[in-house]
Amino acid sequence: MSQNLPLHTQLYDAMIQRIRSGAWKEGDRVPSEKSLVAEFGTSRGPVRQALASLRAEGMIVGGRGAPPRVQRTVPAQSFDTFLSFTEWARSIDRSPGQRVIEASRRPATEEIARELGIAPDEAVVEVIRLRLLDGEPAMIERSVHPFWVGRHLLAADLDGGSIYQTLLALHIAPVRARHVIDAVAAHPLDAEWLGVAAGSPLLRARRVTRDEHGGVIESADDRYLPSMTTFVIENTAEH
Ligand code: GLP
Repeated sequence: MSQNLPLHTQLYDAMIQRIRSGAWKEGDRVPSEKSLVAEFGTSRGPVRQALASLRAEGMIVGGRGAPPRVQRTVPAQSFDTFLSFTEWARSIDRSPGQRVIEASRRPATEEIARELGIAPDEAVVEVIRLRLLDGEPAMIERSVHPFWVGRHLLAADLDGGSIYQTLLALHIAPVRARHVIDAVAAHPLDAEWLGVAAGSPLLRARRVTRDEHGGVIESADDRYLPSMTTFVIENTAEH
């Protein structure tokens, strides 16, 4: 815990980490104030304050007669705005992270060639990353780019950065996308990276992204743990 933060904030961070990591599970009874005081070796005030913040955020429910229980709020992801993973994570006050599993040049399959509007066997660059929210596995992302875009990514530091920020710095602006959303079972390898059993349900969003000239710059396949996000789409009726 950081020594610079007030005690109640440090306790709040520690407790929220337990909820996010699943150490405190949805529906679990929240340990009593007394046991938290003993466990964290602090006084009752900061423990109460931390619990009150979690309650205010809806991460603890019950109380007043009913035992307080953990309610894990799954962060929503809106498709009304155009965000990269990095921007989305920051918009929900989480820190984005990643592990690059692979970044390579290869010939386009027929399906990818169709999506990118290039000839089959033309070179593409595929980037496979495990995306993290506050250090926790959230999603496996496979993005395939035409070579004129992807070559910049092969040269970039993908471990430490954002694909979209890298492209924007090169004046390649992802501005339009079409999404297809469905559910898939986790392949054994994806399951291993995400820390779940093979075959577990994943929420998938496929995105074909275009730049301001209408050229396809990416075909991405994002597979999220359902415990890490929900997809939200808002509509207005047209009468
Ligand atoms: C989201 C999009 C992907 C895109 C990625 C870029 O996950 N669905 O299509 O590749 O963001 O993220 P970042 O800029 O954080 O690397």
